[in-house]
Amino acid sequence: MTRRAPTLASMLVSPALVLNNSSALSLCRNQNQVLRQPFSSTNAHSNREVFPKTGTRRIKETPPAWPHPIYTEDQLNRVMVAHHETRNLGDKVALNTIRVLRFCLDRATGYKHDDAVALHQKDPAKAKQKYAMTEDKYLTRNIFLESIAGVPGMVGGMLRHLRSLRQLKRDGGWMETLLEESYNERMHLLTFLKLGEPGWLMHLMVLLAQGVFFNAFFLAYLMSPRICHRFVGYLEEEAIITYTREIADLDAGRLPGWENLDAPQIAVQYWQMPEGHRKMRDLLLYVRADEAKHREVNHTFGNLDWKHDPNPYTSVYRDPERPHPKQGIENLQQKGWEREDVI
Ligand SMILES: [Fe+2]
Ligand SMILES: [Fe+2]
Repeated sequence: MTRRAPTLASMLVSPALVLNNSSALSLCRNQNQVLRQPFSSTNAHSNREVFPKTGTRRIKETPPAWPHPIYTEDQLNRVMVAHHETRNLGDKVALNTIRVLRFCLDRATGYKHDDAVALHQKDPAKAKQKYAMTEDKYLTRNIFLESIAGVPGMVGGMLRHLRSLRQLKRDGGWMETLLEESYNERMHLLTFLKLGEPGWLMHLMVLLAQGVFFNAFFLAYLMSPRICHRFVGYLEEEAIITYTREIADLDAGRLPGWENLDAPQIAVQYWQMPEGHRKMRDLLLYVRADEAKHREVNHTFGNLDWKHDPNPYTSVYRDPERPHPKQGIENLQQKGWEREDVI
């Protein structure tokens, strides 16, 4: 049965309706098969690779520029939901901004976890019918969020780069970590794009969101890099909550389409996922661990003097035996490092 695409006017009136409709994105349960969806304007993708191959007559392949640190199973399982308590007005501004954004996004994507839990206690069947998150809904949310998550690192890295050029002095190594973070977020996006195919509605939403968020974050970073890093720290806290819930839903059998789904090849290569740990659940663990790294990095940066302190993640320590920030998650501090412990 074909369904009529909504008009632009109806989309603007009711963004919730637009994003709620799981057909804004088609889920690929088998990686070789992309489902054709009425709302998708990308039917031509159905029979081809999502991304063109990089190999040419002379080039064999184009591997990731920033190799990803290896995560062990134990490290992946040690990631947990955590919250950095607010300590000053800037922290409160950052946290409340995140809460407002999260509320709006939850409404727009039909993600009502708290309502669902409350109703589940009274009437499980009705809660499932009304609020159940499906594989499609989660993928829609992940793709949208990851397209936004790649912005702050690039803006921060770019502004620090320009500041270094402008002031004719070194940056202290922050920009590499920030640019790498944005690269890592883009890899999350590319991975989820291998599993779901966004239609034109999603493309439009991503375009609008990027246009607004890039400019807003750019101006905010010019005014207060510290608050911006705290903001990203809180954003990552929310990302970890979402991925933790996805893993819990998968474990509880609420996402059957993901139970035996293989991680896409791009993910296996990027995270160097070991044999026997290349399923969707493993992928979610890797992505969640990356978000935990971003949470740690940004809360740590939010604790530092952004004008003068070197980047603790790219520095060499006088006492290498003492635990200190590293590129991987072996010394992960869920709420970030305190300045006196690293500088
Ligand atoms: Fe991400
Ligand atoms: Fe992140």
